[in-house]
Amino acid sequence: MSLLVRGAHQVATPTGNGARRGSNLATLTVFSDAVVRCENGRITFVGEEGEQRRRFGEPDEILETEGGCVLPGFVDPHTHPVWAGSREDEFDRRLRGETYMEIARAGGGINSTVRATRAASSENLLATTLERLDRFLTHGTTTIEAKSGYGLDLETELRMLEVVRNANSNHPIDLHPTCLAAHEIPPEYRGDPETWVQRLVDEIHPAIARSGLAEAVDVFCEEGVFDLEQTRRLLTDADSLGWRIHLHADELTPLGGAELAVELGALSADHLMCVTPEGVGALATSETVAVLLPGTSFFLRSPWAPARALVDAGCAVALATDCNPGSSPTESMPMILALATLGMGLGVAEAVTASTLNAAAAIGRADEIGSIEVGKSADLIVLAEPTYHHLVYHFGLNPVRHVVKGGRIVVRDGVRCFDRAFHGPVDA
Ligand code: NIG
Ligand code: FE
Repeated sequence: MSLLVRGAHQVATPTGNGARRGSNLATLTVFSDAVVRCENGRITFVGEEGEQRRRFGEPDEILETEGGCVLPGFVDPHTHPVWAGSREDEFDRRLRGETYMEIARAGGGINSTVRATRAASSENLLATTLERLDRFLTHGTTTIEAKSGYGLDLETELRMLEVVRNANSNHPIDLHPTCLAAHEIPPEYRGDPETWVQRLVDEIHPAIARSGLAEAVDVFCEEGVFDLEQTRRLLTDADSLGWRIHLHADELTPLGGAELAVELGALSADHLMCVTPEGVGALATSETVAVLLPGTSFFLRSPWAPARALVDAGCAVALATDCNPGSSPTESMPMILALATLGMGLGVAEAVTASTLNAAAAIGRADEIGSIEVGKSADLIVLAEPTYHHLVYHFGLNPVRHVVKGGRIVVRDGVRCFDRAFHGPVDA
């Protein structure tokens, strides 16, 4: 099966198999009047159309982009996409002055979503997750990291991760599952958090690791949730469980999460709204990717992460939605790019690299996805407008017109075009 993406005004992409840093974050390779050829799910050619024809002959299918801009599909390296219920009441309370943590300590927050998720059937969780995935995909996201964390008991955490596995095989988006059983202290352990930490270490993490349903582990390291020492205990055996590490670090208070992530060799340290200069310094000299989530700052009306300082210090910076019902209910990476530029001060090219190649590095996949280069998976988006600046410039709307995942057209003219049980596009 071959696909030719032709007629683009611009094909724009970062290049390489690892995260880009410092001034290289802004370096995109931009082709004018180039085509992209895909064979059996991989990119086999990027360049001049005549040369493509001489080397490869006629393709099975052509996607006419009509002067649009072709970019790599977004990689969203931090999402909580499986949940039941909704928290718009808390949103309104926050608008009237209560804080996220005050609401959480009064029985709302993550634990209110835990109650709804425990009560929901797996079928219902899968159906709502697939709807969310459709929204991710139509906004240009072709791969996500997907956390559990609204079960907070072994049975529901396993059910959430099974939903992630089922969604992965029933939807074009690739999902990379992370165990976030250490997301909160469940109501049953509110008076005795130490026992909950010990149960996670002794029983819940090992059982989830044995299930093979998670690739990585995450902890919400935060004042009033898991402190630095508890987080260290929760994560020190991650290697022996076969897990890479992500960490919710320095989100609402500066606890030293960034430094701990570096010490443990984590793939990523995420949020970092309150990261200290020492944390920035530690990240800059490490392979740990700084995943920034400006949707959360926007939605909680809290400070932006110091994106400029992180980039200028030489950290590997990526962007993600943090899609979840409490602090960032959005699937839209174009919205995140708007906030990253207009709010956090990144340039548009920097934001493109941070949401594609560097985001792939944050989930350990930069050698397979995240750029338009020969050999990588053919995950592409086509904007209706001619240049990549339009991702952000025309803000508030979805700039993504077509989406190609693994060499197949899965969104055409803004509408998904694959069967619900994904065995290929409807019109193939
Ligand atoms: O990344 N910080 C912890 N977890 C989420 C919020 C989850 C929720 O409020 O439901 C976050 O912001
Ligand atoms: Fe999160």
